[in-house]
Amino acid sequence: MEKITLGTEKLEVSRLGLGCMGMSAFYTGAGADEGGSIRTIHRAIDLGVTFFDTAEIYGPYTNEELLAKAFTDGRRERVVIATKFGTILHRQNDERGLDGSPDNIRLSVEGSLRRLQTDYIDLYYQHRMDPGTPIEETVGALKELIGEGKIRHYGLSEAAPETIKRANDVHPVTAIQTEYSLWTRDPESAVLPTARDLGIGFVPYSPLGRGFLTGTIRSLDQLSDDDFRRFNPRFAGDNLEANIRIVEQVDAVAREAGAKPGQVALAWLLSKGDDIAPIPGTTKVENLEQNVAAADLDLSPEQLARLDAVAAPVGDRYADMSPLNR
Ligand code: ATR
Repeated sequence: MEKITLGTEKLEVSRLGLGCMGMSAFYTGAGADEGGSIRTIHRAIDLGVTFFDTAEIYGPYTNEELLAKAFTDGRRERVVIATKFGTILHRQNDERGLDGSPDNIRLSVEGSLRRLQTDYIDLYYQHRMDPGTPIEETVGALKELIGEGKIRHYGLSEAAPETIKRANDVHPVTAIQTEYSLWTRDPESAVLPTARDLGIGFVPYSPLGRGFLTGTIRSLDQLSDDDFRRFNPRFAGDNLEANIRIVEQVDAVAREAGAKPGQVALAWLLSKGDDIAPIPGTTKVENLEQNVAAADLDLSPEQLARLDAVAAPVGDRYADMSPLNR
């Protein structure tokens, strides 16, 4: 698979990464098939995927431990591991909450390094911004960790343009990770242009719309009682039904292109620029193979234009939007 470079500090990653969250948290079947998840990670490496995304909050903790089990036999050196801090209060009994303070970062990074069984993290993201800590203090601590070799690059997830600029003034940001897909176009107005102005790479998460854009989720009955998507406004109530028209529009292009709707969703994202490295998530080898093949799918300008014009979704992308874009 082709590789691209994120940020001015130059982190090389495969064009498509692998989101590992669903292997351990939030989605139906999380944690149920460790062997299958590890096989999926190994197959990804075989297919040229080098960019693996996790976070301390996934599980919590178990997703990082899973990656350590997968990256044996010299695989660690061949991959880029991205993990995240800032949503667990390590000074307060590991409760959930936002803390971007230097003290919390120190505790977070030691935990992630231990669980990942590595002595460096390639890309360390602040998962959500902490209104209680100036971004300059957070980035100051991250810069120290870079100096110590514990992390190699840092990024911000769901940060506002002004925060990105302030962070970048302290030390160059390598990547912004924000939800971006055919049904989440929000970053196009300001976050993506800001990243581009500053030479920062962009990592779209949930590029398959949390699975919805693959066309395989037609009813909440398919999801377990604790699946995060049941509480996501776009899936809840009548909205799921209303949003199916989006999948139908994507599916029409997919049929024409001889591809699957999820592949079309990924190919559309890749067409947005070579500074973009989406991280579709899957727990299954078969789905991974399908997603990876999307890197070779060329859509015509007319097909891309039709995709650009798909209907806007009904419902916010989170029940609580307040921690985003700050
Ligand atoms: P996230 O970033 O939150 O992981 P995503 O990448 O938009 O979200 O979508 C992930 C979801 O899409 C997962 O539920 C995944 O389910 P599996 O683990 O069962 O694969 C689903 N998914 C990923 N690739 C898929 C594919 N090719 N076909 C069908 N579902 C797929």
